[in-house]
Amino acid sequence: MYERWEELEQAVSCCKKCRLCENRINTVFGTGNKEAKVMFIGEGPGADEDKLGEPFVGKAGKLMNMAFEGIGIKRQEVYIANIVKCRPPSNRNPQDDEAKACMDYLRNQVIFVKPKIIVLLGSVALKNILGKEYNITASRGKWVEKNGIFYLPTWHPAALLRDETKKIDFWKDLKNAKEKMELL
Ligand code: URA
Repeated sequence: MYERWEELEQAVSCCKKCRLCENRINTVFGTGNKEAKVMFIGEGPGADEDKLGEPFVGKAGKLMNMAFEGIGIKRQEVYIANIVKCRPPSNRNPQDDEAKACMDYLRNQVIFVKPKIIVLLGSVALKNILGKEYNITASRGKWVEKNGIFYLPTWHPAALLRDETKKIDFWKDLKNAKEKMELL
């Protein structure tokens, strides 16, 4: 556990705790408001994120930005991070040991940001944060409160690129998160 953002960022930038360090161009730490009420957690960097060192800057991220704009969420007002900080090869899902190796960094980010709401983007985020027994199809759109944080699982934005019908749910969930944020 680090006590300062700079120490945590520095540790991530030279991390070699798992095999994902071998092929990365950049680590993708996280971005946004360090005092955000709402935090978004994705899966892991893709090729664009690896190149730029920022989360959700590729196709899926652009779609997420559009949803943010439509709903009136400013990207700078929320905090965005991932389960793993390095790109898994060929965009495969992070393996359990990789997610586990990286989890203390995310935990540290959550402790620093102190979000009231965490939106879990997709199955990998859901299972690694709330537990393997959760299923994204059954859990999406349903709030789970744990240790004073409200979690809202929703589709991963990349899933919306594959299946347009999921966009409606995603929009609904973001709206729901925004409304709750305004109440907290
Ligand atoms: N997908 C993710 O899960 N995270 C990113 O940062 C980009 C794409």
